[in-house]
Amino acid sequence: MAALGSHVTPVTAVRLGKMRDQLEAGMDIYRGLAGVNVDTSKICSIDGERGELIYRGYDIRELADRASFEEVAYLLWNGALPTREQLDAFQDQLRPTFQLPGEVLEILAALPKGTNPMAALRTGVSALGALDPHADGTDEANVHRIGTQLMGQVPAIVAAFQRLQAGQQPIAPDPNLSIAGNFLRMVNGEEPSEAATRVMDVALVLHAEHGSNASTFVSRSTASSLTDVYSAITAGIGSLKGPLHGGANFGVMQALESIGSVEGVEAYVLDTLGKEGGRVMGFGHRVYRVMDPRAIILKDVSQKLAEESGDSKWFEMSLEMERVMEREMSAKGKQVAPNVDFFSASVYRMLGFEKETYTPIFAVSRISGWMAHLYEQYADNRLMRPRLVYEGEKGKTFTPIDQRG
Ligand code: CMC
Repeated sequence: MAALGSHVTPVTAVRLGKMRDQLEAGMDIYRGLAGVNVDTSKICSIDGERGELIYRGYDIRELADRASFEEVAYLLWNGALPTREQLDAFQDQLRPTFQLPGEVLEILAALPKGTNPMAALRTGVSALGALDPHADGTDEANVHRIGTQLMGQVPAIVAAFQRLQAGQQPIAPDPNLSIAGNFLRMVNGEEPSEAATRVMDVALVLHAEHGSNASTFVSRSTASSLTDVYSAITAGIGSLKGPLHGGANFGVMQALESIGSVEGVEAYVLDTLGKEGGRVMGFGHRVYRVMDPRAIILKDVSQKLAEESGDSKWFEMSLEMERVMEREMSAKGKQVAPNVDFFSASVYRMLGFEKETYTPIFAVSRISGWMAHLYEQYADNRLMRPRLVYEGEKGKTFTPIDQRG
């Protein structure tokens, strides 16, 4: 594969250097790193005011409409859409990667019933790292080797774990299927329909990449010590698991299930917002001031699935939640709109997934984005090491342990 790194030009380096000096000299605090640029990147652009998301120059709406997840992963990693030959070669590389080492399957099988599937995925990826004798190389070829492996191994772990928890045997991959198709088959144990595979593919495209989000930043930051890819990805999975990030899609379905009907939505939203720090999952975003473009596409997908299946309950409840939140947030002068996790919950439900699998599906897709960022990070690394403004005490006198009261 082609070299991928974003090489900082001398002019940019001077600018970054100046900015760095200013930050290091000052006591300014950017809580949650809001508004801080940690580096340059050529992978993804987000315009939060206009609701625009671009992967390597291509609008997300066009990619969701016209590209497969494999094409998008190739694009993110290489900076250009593949030719037919390049895509075939990439798929040939991906095909064997769904096969998990027996040791990893044994570890997954040994996890107690009720283990969080994201904890299982984190454990599985960590085990893959321990089993890889060449895990530590951070040169371009080795990072690519591991990234390509993980594209199949991550969905394979998610699918195998779900089946093991249900007392079922993991299913062997079908080399003729796409990542979306194989994932559906390995979870459900039956040949996926073309329609379901296409919806899955769209969901994977939409979740593939999103700039310096929490898990991607954590992955890049972890890699910046020049530790191995598995450690960086394991850190990213741990971050994605949280309810303020990828865990929100699970939270959305948990809320919808607990509400149970369209009539109960308003009371739920008002009750949640009435609590100190109350958050309605699937709403709000650090970057978007308007509706997340991914949520707009997923809303459409959710509506179509509801119409086709005749089961509109989850979509109708989601619509009502959007309506009440819109009213309540506007009344408070806040710009809090649905994010990617909101309508993905009803989409995954209608595809037949258990809610515990929703956040792992996010990881099945985001592994492509995390890897794109790791290629960039390793290619032009600088250790990430921000500071904290110390507010604790100073000048205390040490008292020997026997004299402490
Ligand atoms: N429900 C109710 N109020 C909200 C919500 C929400 N979901 N999101 C933001 N607000 C309010 C918040 O109360 C705050 O009000 P105030 O200024 O009066 O304190 C204001 O909007 C700004 O919120 P913030 O928490 O300061 O914004 P942030 O940029 O730090 O947080 C967020 C962004 C995503 C953590 C937050 O919107 C949130 O907690 N959302 C719910 C969890 C969620 O859906 N996460 C998925 C994020 S997008 C996909 C992903 O990354 O996985």
